[in-house]
Amino acid sequence: MCGLFAYVGSVNAVPILLDGLRSVEYRGYDSAGISVITESGSIETRKRGDHKASLNNLHSAVTDDQLFGLVGIGHTRWATHGVVNHANSHPHSSVDGSISIAHNGIIENFLDIRDELLDSGVELSSETDSEVIAHLAGNYLATGHSLRDSLVKTVGQLKGNMVVIAVATSEPSKVVGLRLGNAGGIVVGKNEDSAFMASDTVALLSHTAEVVYLESGQVVEIESGSFRLFDFNGKPIEGKSVKTDQSFRAAQKGKYPDFMSKEIAEQPEAIQRAIAGRVNLVSGELEMPEITLSANQIRSIDRVLITGMGTSLHAGMFGASMIESLARIPASAENSSELRYRNPVIGSNTLIIAVTQSGETADTLAAMEYASQQGSCQIAVLEQEGSQAARIADFTLPIHAGQEIGVASTKTMIASMTTLLELSIFLARVRSVIDVDRVKQLVEQISTLPSLVASTLDRNGETSDVAKHLAKFTDLLYLGRGSQLPIALEGALKMKELAYIHAEGYPAGEMKHGVNALLGADMPTVVCAPNNHLYEKMLSNISEVKARGGEVMAIVSDSDDTLERIVDQVIRIPDCSEFLQPFLTLVPLQLLAYTTALELGRDPDQPRNLAKTVTVE
Ligand code: G6P
Repeated sequence: MCGLFAYVGSVNAVPILLDGLRSVEYRGYDSAGISVITESGSIETRKRGDHKASLNNLHSAVTDDQLFGLVGIGHTRWATHGVVNHANSHPHSSVDGSISIAHNGIIENFLDIRDELLDSGVELSSETDSEVIAHLAGNYLATGHSLRDSLVKTVGQLKGNMVVIAVATSEPSKVVGLRLGNAGGIVVGKNEDSAFMASDTVALLSHTAEVVYLESGQVVEIESGSFRLFDFNGKPIEGKSVKTDQSFRAAQKGKYPDFMSKEIAEQPEAIQRAIAGRVNLVSGELEMPEITLSANQIRSIDRVLITGMGTSLHAGMFGASMIESLARIPASAENSSELRYRNPVIGSNTLIIAVTQSGETADTLAAMEYASQQGSCQIAVLEQEGSQAARIADFTLPIHAGQEIGVASTKTMIASMTTLLELSIFLARVRSVIDVDRVKQLVEQISTLPSLVASTLDRNGETSDVAKHLAKFTDLLYLGRGSQLPIALEGALKMKELAYIHAEGYPAGEMKHGVNALLGADMPTVVCAPNNHLYEKMLSNISEVKARGGEVMAIVSDSDDTLERIVDQVIRIPDCSEFLQPFLTLVPLQLLAYTTALELGRDPDQPRNLAKTVTVE
């Protein structure tokens, strides 16, 4: 899931490539590199494999030696094959220097190809799978093939999903890009005298108002002020232009020290935007104009299966519990990487809901493709409306959280949860499971959510002391029940990804079946225990932890005066109806992970070994 950027134009490509790479750096930051075709017609490559410093260091390197060229490609890496170092950084070149390529994806038959290349006497200079593309395509170029044909013939020998961009000395005025399968997108755009390619539309916003998304099996040639699309047989294709949302500018940190704290603070607005146009306070109704299924079609749904990865899966788990309890449709949530391979029984009466803020997560897309083949209706709950997931789904429900830069998702989770809650009310109403008055009541309650979350955020200080304390431990346990379970799982995930502390999220009732053996003074437990119908059960679980010498930090409702006498520390959330509580318990858990990360000197925006959008499986 690396980031790609390409430029052809009339001014120096180098600063434009670096700028473009900055926009796609969220896809990986293990290394950064560029190749440009210089005025003498040769390819010059500069790269740095210094983890998070790569792009800055690359910037200094190219400025120092005044690299210049009008045509170039760039890459930011999330390492799959080969450690993070200079040699494994992209772009990669053929031995004769005739071609330079940057690649996103995985070559599944790489070992066989590598052996063949080694047998034929090629000396490989990296451990990456990507490098073989440069050598194979270099061989085709050497026998007189065009750059486009060379790349198409090369990927014909490869298995896997990938995007490749390349420059060649034989065609010094163009960049060729190609897409095979779902390894993250590639977007093409142009203006009067330049043309561009990037992994993400956001990288093209300052250059063009319209883009074309390359589909699998398509190849594109960009030249100054123009581009042409072809299929793999060389037949020209008319690309479908899509207007870019120019309001969607690269986010700025503003007054915040990092994107993570900014995005956590933006959650009330994110919810507000997810509510706008759906929750109608005047009529007391919940409208979902995006879903144009008939009432009969909605009534014929006999099962809802929600799928996603990471934080989006946790939002999906919350959504499944809401759909089942409100709309009374059997609903479950499942990790897409499991769903896609287990030959699940799904059909035309199954509603599949994919939750994916980026709309580009490889496993989620593959699960969606599978569901499409089975004839299931699909809704995508997403932020990126121009993404692959939007193209696969029958209906999209944009969450409108606004661009999220922090690798660990926060505001997109809360906005996805809001959207799923709205969807569950919509389904319940259409199926006549709840009446108009109940909808009105729910709508009124949902409209209070932004201010409830804002007031939870205002208590930020309460988490600081707890975070300082938790930073001393190497293992943590997070417990929840019912709709608090996905929140406990999310709290543990956030702590792992941001603070690098081992944390396990667990159903509280499952403790006696193994985890109790770990309890003791060296593993604090964080519990989600607001006042709800499972409160008494949580109380028992908390007492069991305390009885075994474990420290307990509890997220409790304002009106709770019991738990502060039992546990070691409480963090309070406003009183509210039970179905809104997960939104509020989520916030202190995000803050705990964030503050603990800072306490330990971690970078909350770019945690090690992770990337924002995972476009490889
Ligand atoms: C990565 C991100 C997570 C995100 C997950 C799913 O792992 O670091 O924050 O939840 O991908 O991403 P999606 O774009 O499908 O929601």
